[in-house]
Amino acid sequence: MALVGSGSAVPAFAVSNTRLSERVDTSDDWIRSRTGIAERRICGPDEPLTPLATRAAEAALAHAGWQAEDLDLILMATSSPDDLFGTAPRVQGALGAKHAVAFDLTAACSGFLFALITAGQYLRSGAMRRALVIGADQLSRWVDWDDRTTCVLFGDGAAAVAVEACPAEADGLLGFRMRSDGTRNGCLTLAQTERHHSVLSGVDAQIGGFAPLRMNGQEVYKFAVREVPAVLKELLESTGTDPGALNWLLLHQANQRILDAVADRFAIPHERVLSNLASYGNTSAATIPLMLDEAVKDGRIQPGDLIASSGFGAGLSWGGALLRWSGPQAAAA
Ligand code: UT7
Repeated sequence: MALVGSGSAVPAFAVSNTRLSERVDTSDDWIRSRTGIAERRICGPDEPLTPLATRAAEAALAHAGWQAEDLDLILMATSSPDDLFGTAPRVQGALGAKHAVAFDLTAACSGFLFALITAGQYLRSGAMRRALVIGADQLSRWVDWDDRTTCVLFGDGAAAVAVEACPAEADGLLGFRMRSDGTRNGCLTLAQTERHHSVLSGVDAQIGGFAPLRMNGQEVYKFAVREVPAVLKELLESTGTDPGALNWLLLHQANQRILDAVADRFAIPHERVLSNLASYGNTSAATIPLMLDEAVKDGRIQPGDLIASSGFGAGLSWGGALLRWSGPQAAAA
């Protein structure tokens, strides 16, 4: 699987830390020093996920030099769908990708990495040739805006990567690990509310609906700084990769302190750690491709660059992938 194109889209409206302190008891200083976040983008009520994800997908297609009809697969990682039956088909329809099968994959902040690895299996098996992997979330719809421990962390965004079948020697997915631990699910949830109603005499049913996001921040922090280095160490050892050979560390953007702690564990200089937390906060499944697209478009990531990536979050779920960026010139090579 070769990574040949990227694209992203964020809502126009930015909310600063100072603005948030109008609503909850917080401060710019607390949020910056504890997380590295300065502002985040928020979708308005008339900005659902589908158009945002579609813009990101169109940008990735254009970057790869592909037409929508070229796609065999659209895999959309999201935990905040427009439709619980699937948002990817809406994006497929909007793109006019009439030959592509499209479906959602839910794994919270690990979602994009899990989707990229999943798409890789279809491409490597020869079942499919071209895929678009999208990470898109708008957790602004699901946070409790009166809970200062979570509402300051999240933002909305979408990004996509175009991936293509290729000869084994050009494969850009050099190794991967995926992990889940459902026994710690309660640390970070966006779960169904428990409300029921009487449908018929003697027949009760649950009323569908979801509670706001809840997180035990300290537990998730400890989980991240323990498991992310462990999974990356395994990945680097299994592929015989020296950390010094990495061009970039591309982690899920949840907290600058987590990025720094992981980098320090591998003695990776901080200038090789990609971060856009200050501008966007935690956009869940979108963070990794959003950061990737930014660094590709501003020229930091070059064709041939080696990238260690890790996603982690609700599930609990986490994983890592060792990637080599090909860029558009490799498309259809
Ligand atoms: O994307 C999914 C993965 N998510 C993550 O990786 C998130 C991991 N967790 C974290 O990044 C951090 O735990 C947080 C940023 C969420 C919190 O930082 P922390 O340093 O762990 O803070 P804390 O929870 O220990 O809270 C310290 C204090 C508390 O006050 P007291 O009890 O010491 O008086 C909190 O009530 O900070 C208080 N606090 C705040 N103060 C001002 C919590 N949130 C805020 C806030 N503004 N927004």
